[in-house]
Amino acid sequence: MKILAVESSCDETSVAVVEDGRKVYSNVIASQIDTHKKFGGVVPEIASRQHVEAINTVLKEGLEEAGVKLSDIDIIAATKGPGLIGALLVGLSAGKALALSTGKPFVGVNHIVGHVCANYISFKELEPPFVGIIISGGHTYLIEVKDYVDFTLHGRTVDDAVGEAFDKVARSLGLAYPGGPVIDFLAKKGKETIEFPRVMMKEDNYNFSFSGLKTAVLNYLNSAKLRGEEIVVEDVCKSFQEAIVDVLIEKSFRLARETKRDKIVLCGGVSANSRIREAFEERGKSENIKIFYPDLKLCTDNAAMIASAAYYEYIGGKVNENNFANPNLGL
Ligand code: KG4
Ligand code: ZN
Repeated sequence: MKILAVESSCDETSVAVVEDGRKVYSNVIASQIDTHKKFGGVVPEIASRQHVEAINTVLKEGLEEAGVKLSDIDIIAATKGPGLIGALLVGLSAGKALALSTGKPFVGVNHIVGHVCANYISFKELEPPFVGIIISGGHTYLIEVKDYVDFTLHGRTVDDAVGEAFDKVARSLGLAYPGGPVIDFLAKKGKETIEFPRVMMKEDNYNFSFSGLKTAVLNYLNSAKLRGEEIVVEDVCKSFQEAIVDVLIEKSFRLARETKRDKIVLCGGVSANSRIREAFEERGKSENIKIFYPDLKLCTDNAAMIASAAYYEYIGGKVNENNFANPNLGL
């Protein structure tokens, strides 16, 4: 079953053709990052306009690269939320129009589920059940994936998402957007010299909070400036990143132990982080839990993961269900 999927929830216009949820024929991504860099973050109205400009070309390239015609496609899919409303509407409208004009079934996909499914593409043998940790620019969810379409939400951030914390801390250090990859890079050259708080780490729940950590970094920078102390950016990056790593590890492994799951699957843009990957692997070895994370290209937003999610939703009977754009769609 070949699925053509469209993703446009934030600042990437992407079209992919994927067979049976796992075999990628094409995954074309037009990124707007260079445009938004100038503003230090994504500007929603500019994002929508750039999706409109890109969508037809990306659709054409997605089919061409896959070496298929529209008539070879069985199902059309698009991200329906969460995301920026104007951005979502571009890809969703394009997907629905294609489905309507060709008479093919349409599946509206939850972007968060898409991030989980990126792992099915990278690991052909991976199957539920497992513990999933979704860490992206807009979301932080700790879930149990009991089956392909059966998720139990155990915890989420009560304020900022992990990626948001990376981006905001990077901004306060005068680093480029998106901040995650830059902090990842600089932290490799730094030492953990500052003790930042591990907020909510010992609390008896699976929720997270990252806004206090972000403020702690800001306070540190302001008071170091006031005292005329040298700020070693690499050390700040390393110390901040370690505080994030500790909290993510503590809660993910606690959930895996309590639910007796032997797999933890990292999902979303922040799962590209080299230290997070390494720390999960290390702990996984000592607790006998297998760790998965997608190939780098599949960590951040892309349509292949949306096509994979659409496949499992479709064979799970979820088709033509409430396919309206929903910026606040939850799990
Ligand atoms: O999944 P994604 O592309 O978009 C959302 O759905 O939000 O994630 C983007 C986020 C950004 O916050 C970016 O800074 C972060 O992923 N990110 C990273 C790394 N690469 C991307 N964060 C930490 N380390 C990285 N290497
Ligand atoms: Zn995303």
